[in-house]
Order: sequence, then structure tokens, then C-alpha cells
Amino acid sequence: MRIDVVTIFPEYLAPLDLSLAGRAQESGLVEVVTHDLRDWTTDRHRSVDDTPYGGGAGMVMRPGPWGDALDAVTSAECVVIVPTPAGEVFTQAVAAELATCGHLVFACGRYEGIDQRVVDDAADRWPVRELSLGDFVLNGGEVAALAMIEAVVRLVPGFMGNPASLAEESHGVDGLLEYPVYTKPATWRGREVPEVLLSGHHERIAAWRREQSVARTAERRPDLLP
Ligand code: ADE
Repeated sequence: MRIDVVTIFPEYLAPLDLSLAGRAQESGLVEVVTHDLRDWTTDRHRSVDDTPYGGGAGMVMRPGPWGDALDAVTSAECVVIVPTPAGEVFTQAVAAELATCGHLVFACGRYEGIDQRVVDDAADRWPVRELSLGDFVLNGGEVAALAMIEAVVRLVPGFMGNPASLAEESHGVDGLLEYPVYTKPATWRGREVPEVLLSGHHERIAAWRREQSVARTAERRPDLLP
């Protein structure tokens, strides 16, 4: 998989080299390339924003540099992703879908966002996903792109040492939150590991974990229950 990220803060993406994605890059499974949007500016001040038509607070990212940047880094088979709090919610299902793509291009906006014509123009040529990390607002798309890339790359076949762990984690095959987990010692600060986990009885353990998953999901995320 090839991932291109266009941003005015390429250094924001540096942690990718340290994270799980770093290993995937070394092994050649994924190649991540970041680009500075200002490389596609043509004015002396390398300006990327301007005041919004219609008035209002804040600045809007100019279409010119964005159009040229996307023309340069996209490919026939790519999917363009625009992180924005105004997008559809990025879920594990979306991550799994994107993990099957050969080329992802992230367009990270700042300020009040990117001129909508950039997104509309891109959508005429490539699939475009405007995606939100959740119901909160970040200063720009970079941190969202970082999170989305990590979520996608760990689902690329061959990335996980033990793919079975993908099915067991939160938002796994059953869509429930993960059960609580414990390791040694069996007693810590007077707190015991649930007895069933020490029993060696695989069916009882599986049933207990399922119960815990359902109870946790009902309490914290009832919207996820079937
Ligand atoms: N950019 C700013 N806020 C965001 C969010 N919540 N999700 C994705 N991109 C964003």
C-alpha cells in the first residue's frame, strides 16, 4: 500500500516512523510519503489561505495549491481522504475497507477547512471520503490522518503477527467492546484476577468473556449492540 499525505505541517506525521506503521514501512508492506502543500504555491509568501466568501470568522484554504498538489500525488487507483469534523464517522468498518486499497491520499486541511471545490473536483476523478474521527474538533486534519493511517495499516494483510488478535479486540468481528484483560500476578494490591480465568476451562472462559463484552458494551456504548 502507498500512502501520500499533503499538509502544511509535514513534521506532524513524523511519529508514523516510530509507530506500528514504521515497522510496516521497513518491511516494504506500506510506503508513507508526506508532502508540504506550500510546495504547490506560486506567490512570494507561499500563502495557502484566504478570507471566506460570504464572510465569517477564520480563513479558508485556497483551491489553487490544493488542486495542483492532488493532481501531482494522486494515481488512477487512489482513494482521496479528507479528514474533517464535518465528515462521516471513521469506524473500524471504514478502516477495514480502506485497508484493501492500494493507494490512499490524505488531504489535511487547517483553519476553517479547504475550499469545497477542491473536494468536488477530486470527486469527479477519484473516490473521495470526507471522514471525521468523532464529535470533537481538532486544529487540523494531521492528527486525524495519523490515527486513521495507524488504524488502516494494522489491518493490511501481513501486518499483524497474529491476525487472530484482530478478531478479539474491541470493534472486532462481533462489533462489541473488548472484555477486560489480566496478567500475572494473580493477586495485586489485594485485587484478584477473576477466578474463571485461572480455571483452565476454555468454554467457561469464552462464555465469561462474552458476558463481559456484552455488559461493557451495554453500559458504555449501547449504540453498538445489535
Ligand atoms: N479535523 C478537525 N477536527 C477533525 C475531526 N474531529 N476528525 C477529522 N478531522 C478533523
